[in-house]
Amino acid sequence: MFESLGAFVDHLRAQGKLVDIDEELSPDYEVAAAVRLIDQRLGKAVLCRKVRGCGMPVVANILARRDLLRLAFASPNDPTEEYLRRIGGSLPPEVVRAAPVHEVVHDGDFDVAKLLPLLLHHEKDAARYISSGVTVSRDPQTGLRGMGIYRIQVCGPRELTISIGSPPVSDFLAKANATGKPLPVAIAIGLEPLSYFASVVPVAAGVDKFDAAGTLRGAPVPLVAARTQPVEVYAEAEIVLEGEMLPNTQREDGPVGESTGYYHAGRSWAARLTAVTHRAHPFYYALVPFAAENTLLMGVTREADLLAALRRKFPSVRRVSLTQGSVAMLAIIQAAPASKEEATAMVRAALEGSMQVKTAILVDADVDPHDLNDVQWALSTRFQADRDLLVLRDLPGSPIDPTATNRRTAKLGLDATRPADQAEAFMRIALDPAARRRVEEILARLT
Ligand SMILES: Cc1cc2nc3c(=O)[nH]c(=O)nc-3n(C[C@H](O)[C@H](O)[C@H](O)COP(=O)(O)O)c2cc1C
Repeated sequence: MFESLGAFVDHLRAQGKLVDIDEELSPDYEVAAAVRLIDQRLGKAVLCRKVRGCGMPVVANILARRDLLRLAFASPNDPTEEYLRRIGGSLPPEVVRAAPVHEVVHDGDFDVAKLLPLLLHHEKDAARYISSGVTVSRDPQTGLRGMGIYRIQVCGPRELTISIGSPPVSDFLAKANATGKPLPVAIAIGLEPLSYFASVVPVAAGVDKFDAAGTLRGAPVPLVAARTQPVEVYAEAEIVLEGEMLPNTQREDGPVGESTGYYHAGRSWAARLTAVTHRAHPFYYALVPFAAENTLLMGVTREADLLAALRRKFPSVRRVSLTQGSVAMLAIIQAAPASKEEATAMVRAALEGSMQVKTAILVDADVDPHDLNDVQWALSTRFQADRDLLVLRDLPGSPIDPTATNRRTAKLGLDATRPADQAEAFMRIALDPAARRRVEEILARLT
């Protein structure tokens, strides 16, 4: 477990998984371009040390790949399996009195844009956005804590919109709006990796998400009372914005480049800031919408839910991959179906059981679901369209699919497994194991 974002950044650098950029970059589009291009080309985290007009360095992409998530879990296991192994328990947070995030406090007439390197991400974005902020709040009736990542638009020195559309914070806001009272919130920017990951895991209604975060980290999350709002927030965060949601008030939001890869415009809930607090030497954490981390943060938990549900029905299901390029709407399922009927039932269960899966491809145990070359090979050599294709109509779809009508969509299933009785005829060619081991050793010395 890492104490802070800074500790994880040091670890990523030591592992060769971080690119340090020393050239000065502008917060207007240039930092976002660096984050996206390093993500696409190198799959690494990035630290932009000098950002024009602001003394704070910007970090991004810390969880942009599965191997980075493995480092965060400090486990060689597949992150989806590790998540399934850890989730389900309850380890409540620990409330502390003094916190690094309170080393510097601005609670007067501040202008948030002058304090933080707020970024312009995409060419048609209407404003600066904070895409990585974890908004923490409490149920105004029961006091239950909860958090989530919600898109934040900066509208003025202390004015924001926050696109709170999913639970638990959307439930808290609905209750506050019903009574006409403001909802206190605190927004954390820059967290150690497992607190960040845990901020968006789904939990059952009535469960404190910080209890789930504790089990994922293997240690209680340290919380501290915010300075100007009756809410507790991550003590180890780099930066925290404190404020309140204005009751029943919405403003224009966007256009803004979103996680789908398209621009979005609409209306979102208005908020007013009352303080900005941060460490003495904080990192600003950036998430560029549609970069790989955006999909992976939620994809791994969705993948785990689907895997667990499929395994309950079909014990031969081994792995599930919700692919990056499909914004987690394409599922590759690795299994050993005993018959054609079972293969079809698996594909149908994946399409019907997961709202966000729009296409499902079933592959055999000898095909790596995380290797798209392998999947294409299976599709080309084991799939016949007039025999192995399934089309389902009018099912609940992903809320982010722009082709869905009222969130209903058609779905496609492809059974790319070989006939169960023809394993011999479809046996893959393979290298001699001893020769492979020897050459692997030689290559490890050369590279
Ligand atoms: C990068 C990122 C951005 C997100 N942006 C939003 C958002 O703007 N609005 C929203 O309602 N939910 C957003 N979410 C989802 C919520 O954070 C929420 O935690 C998630 O929906 C929890 O899962 P559940 O809906 O299954 O409970 C975002 C998630 C991620 C990872």
